[in-house]
Amino acid sequence: MQKILVIAKLPGIDTIRMKLKDQGIQVILKDGLSLEEVIEETKRDSEIEGLVTLMKHPLNAENLEKLSHLKAISNYAVGFNNIEIEKANELKLPIGHTPDVLSDATADVALTLTLMACRKVRLAQEDVLQGLWKEFQVSRYNGVDPRDLKIGIIGFGRIGQNFARKCYRLWNVPIYTLKRASLEGLDLDFPFHAASEEEFFKNVNLLSIHCPLTDKTKNMVDRNFISKFENPFIFINTARGGIHNEEDLHTALKEGKILEVGLDVTNPEPMDKGADILKDQRVTVLPHIGSATIRTRTEMCHMAIQNVADVLLGNPMSHQANSF
Ligand code: GLV
Repeated sequence: MQKILVIAKLPGIDTIRMKLKDQGIQVILKDGLSLEEVIEETKRDSEIEGLVTLMKHPLNAENLEKLSHLKAISNYAVGFNNIEIEKANELKLPIGHTPDVLSDATADVALTLTLMACRKVRLAQEDVLQGLWKEFQVSRYNGVDPRDLKIGIIGFGRIGQNFARKCYRLWNVPIYTLKRASLEGLDLDFPFHAASEEEFFKNVNLLSIHCPLTDKTKNMVDRNFISKFENPFIFINTARGGIHNEEDLHTALKEGKILEVGLDVTNPEPMDKGADILKDQRVTVLPHIGSATIRTRTEMCHMAIQNVADVLLGNPMSHQANSF
């Protein structure tokens, strides 16, 4: 029997397991294996032909080589920066991912962080928990009114557009993204400015990151990038922690160039509990919960396992991250 190895108890696994059993594919679950143990397991059991991995598994060239006897791998995530795609292409190994199903949930977290930053929720919450709420405050908690936001999006794909749409519908605010060829002819159900760099950095007072982590975007939001903004701004990142430079964010907060920071992603993950930036009450950090709703995680599970099953059944992978 063909087998797919899944290495975490993903919500929704039982339903797809039953469905695939009828098609002659067994989904086996081994929770908590290290990548080395996973590799060994796939070699020990020759019926394992496919694998579902998590973002924390570094599928670098060496590990992909060791897994090249498999027919397909799918990441339980939309992002696949943990996988060396060029090597997978060289090995002609299809790599799956889970786009679309998590766009709403992830944009919701960007929206949550936006509201938390605007309304200074961390400061307010800590005051209550520490017994510092003594009387009604006329100015201590006054933040940016979301209706005054000018939203800048870097990474105007599915999640970026979803977040932009939510902001526009809630607050009727302008949306900016940097002009590029791929935006030409893009017809959305809300208005946005495909802005020049000059226009973008002149206007934006909230920057939200939604692009993948690549060699180009690594460490992109650093001191130099921050200095291009004409106005102090709120910084939100729900994409990948490697895109911003944490030390430079902290310096910019201290210098008043950044007003508040909301992160669902850090570098490294998890963030060190003693990290300097965490001590600043203008910083909210969440433990990478973008897609963490029962519905979304279930849909991701079905998609990731189905991606692998597609190939095992002799079909093209439905959501393939690479092409060769
Ligand atoms: C989460 O960060 C994902 O890429 O799905």
